[in-house]
Amino acid sequence: MGRVEGKTVIITGAASGIGEATARLLVAEGARVVIGDVQRERGAALAAELGSAARFLHCDVTCPEDVQGLVASACDWSGHLDVMFNNAGIVGVTGPVEDISPCEWKVTMDVLLNGVFYGMKYAAAVMKPQGWGSIISTASVAGISGGLGPTAYSAAKHAVIGLTKSMAAEMGGYGVRVNAIAPYAMVTPMVADVYFSDGERLEETRQLLESSSPLKGREGRAEDVAHAALWLASDDSGYTSGLTLTTDAGYTVGARAEPPRHIQRKPID
Ligand SMILES: NC(=O)c1ccc[n+]([C@@H]2O[C@H](COP(=O)([O-])OP(=O)(O)OC[C@H]3O[C@@H](n4cnc5c(N)ncnc54)[C@H](O)[C@@H]3O)[C@@H](O)[C@H]2O)c1
Repeated sequence: MGRVEGKTVIITGAASGIGEATARLLVAEGARVVIGDVQRERGAALAAELGSAARFLHCDVTCPEDVQGLVASACDWSGHLDVMFNNAGIVGVTGPVEDISPCEWKVTMDVLLNGVFYGMKYAAAVMKPQGWGSIISTASVAGISGGLGPTAYSAAKHAVIGLTKSMAAEMGGYGVRVNAIAPYAMVTPMVADVYFSDGERLEETRQLLESSSPLKGREGRAEDVAHAALWLASDDSGYTSGLTLTTDAGYTVGARAEPPRHIQRKPID
C-alpha cells in the first residue's frame, strides 16, 4: 500500500521543479494526480510518462475558471478530491520598491497569492461537503522573514501563510486540513534561472546551493519538498492543520553551514 493510495490529488505548477517531483512521488505512492500548469509540453510529457495515474490540464492559476476546471476534472475522474497542492509560482517583480510598477506588483500577486486563493476556494467547495481533504500551499522562507526574497514575492508568501492559518481555522469544522510548506533555496529551474539566467543549469545550481547550504555538504532538493508534501497529503499528518512546515535545514532558526563562533569553548575562571 502506498502512503496516498487511492487519493485524488491536484498539483498546480507540476510541470517543473517541486511540483514535478511531488507528482512523481505521489503517483509512486498510489495517488491519481491532476497536473495543472501553463507549460503544455512539459506537463503533457510528464503525464504521459506517469501513465494512467496522471493527467495534464492546461491551467493558468491567475484564471479562476482554469482552477475551477482542475477541480472539476479531478472530481469527474474519481468522484472526490482528497488533496489540493497550490504550488505554481514565479519569482515575479524584483528590484527596489520605488521602481516596482503597480502593474508588475499586481501580476506577481495574481500568480503567487490570488492563484492560491482560487485553489483554496474551489477545493473548499468540494471538500467541505465531502467532509475531508488536505489543502497544501507552497510558501517560502521569504514568507517567514523579510530580506530573503524580492519584496512582492516575500509579501505574497507571507500572505499565503496567513491565508493558510485563516483557512485552517475555517475548515477544521468540516474535517479539512490546511497547511503550507516553506522551502529555503532548492535546486529547481526557477532558482537556476535566478542565478544563471538559465533554468537548465541545474548542476551548477546544485553546486552553488551545496556550498552555501545551512546544512553542510547537502543542498536542498525538490524531492525534499515533495516528501514534506507527501506527509501533509497522507493520513500520517491526520491531526496537523495550520502548520507552516519549513524545509530549510534550519535556516530560519539560525542554522548556517559554518558552526557559530559562540560555541567555541572558552573556560570561565
Ligand atoms: N525552488 C525554491 O528554492 C523555492 C523556494 C521557496 C519557495 N518556492 C516555491 O515553490 C513553488 C514551485 O517553484 P519551483 O522552484 O519548483 O519553480 P519551477 O519554475 O521549477 O516550477 C514552477 C511551475 O509553476 C508553473 N507556473 C508559473 N506560473 C503559473 C501560472 N500562472 N499558472 C500555472 N502554473 C504556473 C511553471 O510553469 C512551472 O512549471 C513556487 O511557488 C515557488 O515560489 C521555491
